[in-house]
Amino acid sequence: MSNSYLTCSFLSSIFVLSLIFIFIKRKKTRYNLPPGKMGWPFIGETIGYLKPYTATTMGEFMENHIARYGTIYKSNLFGGPAIVSADAELNRFILQNDGKLFECSYPKSIGGILGKWSMLVLVGDMHREMRNISLNFMSYARLKTHFLKDMEKHTLFVLSSWKENCTFSAQDEAKKFTFNLMAKQIMSLDPGNLETEQLKKEYVCFMKGVVSAPLNLPGTAYRKALKSRNNILKFIEGKMEERVKRNQEGKKGMEENDLLNWVLKHSNLSTEQILDLILSLLFAGHETSSVAIALAIYFLPSCPQAIQQLREEHREIARSKKKAGEVELTWDDYKRMEFTHCVVNETLRLGNVVRFLHRKAIKDVHYKGYDIPCGWKVLPVISAVHLDPSNFDQPQHFNPWRWQVSSKSGNCASMSNNNFMPFGGGPRLCAGLELAKLEMAVFIHHIILKYNWDMVDVDQPIVYPFVDFPKGLPIRVQSEEEIEDEESSDEEREREDENDFGLRVCLV
Ligand code: HEM
Ligand SMILES: *[C@@H]1O[C@H](CO)[C@@H](O)[C@H](O)[C@H]1NC(C)=O
Ligand SMILES: *[C@@H]1O[C@H](CO)[C@@H](O)[C@H](O)[C@H]1NC(C)=O
Ligand SMILES: *[C@@H]1O[C@H](CO)[C@@H](O)[C@H](O)[C@H]1NC(C)=O
Ligand SMILES: *[C@@H]1O[C@H](CO)[C@@H](O)[C@H](O)[C@H]1NC(C)=O
Repeated sequence: MSNSYLTCSFLSSIFVLSLIFIFIKRKKTRYNLPPGKMGWPFIGETIGYLKPYTATTMGEFMENHIARYGTIYKSNLFGGPAIVSADAELNRFILQNDGKLFECSYPKSIGGILGKWSMLVLVGDMHREMRNISLNFMSYARLKTHFLKDMEKHTLFVLSSWKENCTFSAQDEAKKFTFNLMAKQIMSLDPGNLETEQLKKEYVCFMKGVVSAPLNLPGTAYRKALKSRNNILKFIEGKMEERVKRNQEGKKGMEENDLLNWVLKHSNLSTEQILDLILSLLFAGHETSSVAIALAIYFLPSCPQAIQQLREEHREIARSKKKAGEVELTWDDYKRMEFTHCVVNETLRLGNVVRFLHRKAIKDVHYKGYDIPCGWKVLPVISAVHLDPSNFDQPQHFNPWRWQVSSKSGNCASMSNNNFMPFGGGPRLCAGLELAKLEMAVFIHHIILKYNWDMVDVDQPIVYPFVDFPKGLPIRVQSEEEIEDEESSDEEREREDENDFGLRVCLV
């Protein structure tokens, strides 16, 4: 009896299982998924996807997959089924519908290290509130006053430490600049101070963990980074307590205008929230823009005409400032840097500081005949769009002139702009985009006026998937002759010089 009972229940459970299987199968096949393959269980194709490659290319994985499946394909990445999009239109669609059809969905390890209140992982109202604070902090009004002035100061602080004919890491110098600037703006820390330097060291360790495999085991980069995270939080908390005390005593310090004070006065955030906000803004604000500056330093020497045209533009600005008796750069000067803006865009297009974003579908989405099932990861690969010849002519070439609006192909220019999204888009568009562009322009202004530089060793930007120069981008500088001082009194000679300094630059 028990035998037949067993057989019976065995058969019936097989029957039920097959039904479930058929049901799931049916449910799955109802979706018209994009082509692609899922790879190994769990890890899927993640290892291939994350394999390092040169930053000015899409990478082998992406090229092969696009060749085989087209610009929209399915895969299994970061522990789940995913739709990868190298399609400009779908990318825009994903970013515009953030919060409606898609939601930010960074891997757990990122939340673990940046904190659960980090803006990168928050969604909904809390994200909006944090974003609002960041936007206020980096508003145009503040950029024009506080940031611009400080940027120039910190640029000169870094550039003036460069010694002629010595080799140093341009990437480290760029990092120094952006870190010092953010540390000052966020917590009023001064460059060179012991505590600032200690904080910088912790951040280096922290960064290594953000991008490492999230293995919380003794000795791993991830574990060390979690420790650094704690040290950084402790540091910020100390600053915060100091500030609260000072504010209670009614002392008005120099720090009145930094982010820390702003958050303490104008928001209802808990201590834990403030700590994560400050930690992640300091992180977002210096890791990205320093890479962008290093990329500009890397690309420009390969394009002497661009250096020459930049120099003309910035010398002209420097001359007219001198004439007007101005010393510091103004917002109007920044607006006049037309060619520089082209160089900035081109650097971001070709270098692609942020390669792709993490999203997931929160509804079943239908797009151009394809289905994106609810719960699936969606990865808009913004870099692939920038390197696609159907969007940008000869995408491998560093060609700032492609951004010149006055060119005959005015139509093309506006079309390209539409596909250009180095800062993401939609409700999560980078909050620091104007700040980042301003930083690049101010840095370029001074480096181009002060120095000529060349690469000492072959180095190139590699995607790990964050962009990094493995050798730190070693460069050597020579002082650029300052034509300003000699002939500023004599307009005639000034003109002459303007005509032939191009030659002079080419000879270098
Ligand atoms: C060239 C430099 C930079 C690049 C390429 C860049 C790129 C990006 C991208 C692509 C996003 C969108 C992330 C997503 O949608 O998931 C983003 C978000 C963000 N960025 Fe930047 N960024 C840069 C510089 C900065 C700077 C200087 C700051 C200043 C603190 C900053 C602060 C932020 C913040 C706060 C967010 C989150 C916005 C939100 O979720 O609402 N970024 N950035
Ligand atoms: C955003 O910040 C501004 C300025 O502080 C404030 O007036 C506004 O109410 C805030 N909006 C939201 C949605 O929090
Ligand atoms: C650097 O090298 C150049 C050319 O090699 C030389 O003319 C110049 O004097 C050197 N500068 C210093 C400070 O050594
Ligand atoms: C902070 O909370 C108080 C009361 O809970 C509220 O009235 C106020 O609007 C909040 N302020 C902000 C900026 O959220
Ligand atoms: C650079 O790109 C932005 C889009 O992010 C665009 O609005 C701007 O006009 C571009 N600048 C130039 C000089 O083409």
